[in-house]
Amino acid sequence: MMIPDLQKKKEEGKKITMLTAYDYLFARLVDDGGVDVILVGDSLSVVVQGNPNTLPVTMDEMIYHTRMVSRGVKKGIVLADMPFLSYQASVEDAVRNAGRFLKEGGAMGVKLEGGSSMIKQIKAISGAGIPVMGHLGLTPQSIHQMGGYKVQGKNKKDAENILSDARLIQEAGAFALLLEGIPAELARKISKSLSIPTIGIGAGPDCDGQVLVLYDMLGLFDQFVPKFVRQYANLKETARKAILQYKSDVESGKFPSEKESY
Ligand code: KIV
Repeated sequence: MMIPDLQKKKEEGKKITMLTAYDYLFARLVDDGGVDVILVGDSLSVVVQGNPNTLPVTMDEMIYHTRMVSRGVKKGIVLADMPFLSYQASVEDAVRNAGRFLKEGGAMGVKLEGGSSMIKQIKAISGAGIPVMGHLGLTPQSIHQMGGYKVQGKNKKDAENILSDARLIQEAGAFALLLEGIPAELARKISKSLSIPTIGIGAGPDCDGQVLVLYDMLGLFDQFVPKFVRQYANLKETARKAILQYKSDVESGKFPSEKESY
């Protein structure tokens, strides 16, 4: 799978699949499952590092995780999320840091958050030959400005702004656009009016593809489960039971058995 194949999928009316991964083992599982895009999301700041939001994770930490994921992916597209302050301050920062993900992390492209104020960055990154995905709607790096994780584009003016930002992002050269936490109707309108693919999360069924945070859909991370998450497994409960059983077996002398000894 290569970046231009995503455009082809949209044109053929085939849905694009995307999941996050943060390490070699899970990246292999996701890739073996035939998922098109594996995103090294800055959500790792919360679900891997235990931070309260996505703001603290650094470029070096994101590159470390991207490298692990790239080693596990043979078929899919590895995308890296540009962390907070790696692209906002200047166009030069944006190009240099985006380039690091390809050069040091083995990614095929990057994703960054923001609309009209990030157009210069998107143009420059794309102009440097680095595929870039936009991200509009609920943009977690702006949590303090939004006043929390709230659905965006609910009133007419906000919805128009998001639609016009989406068009600007396409014109700036982005290969795709992620839409997070917006009404399904707005996501449908944007997906119809753009020629590049849209990927939705909490944006209804009419985007050209869908993404979820892997630990959410596997039921591993349950500190906060938004309405849009579907849990396809309950791995937290499976792991909890296994750990309790192991502890009990060791304490009662049932583990290891003769068969498990040399
Ligand atoms: O960081 C992340 O995991 C994301 C989600 C929207 C998938 O950007």
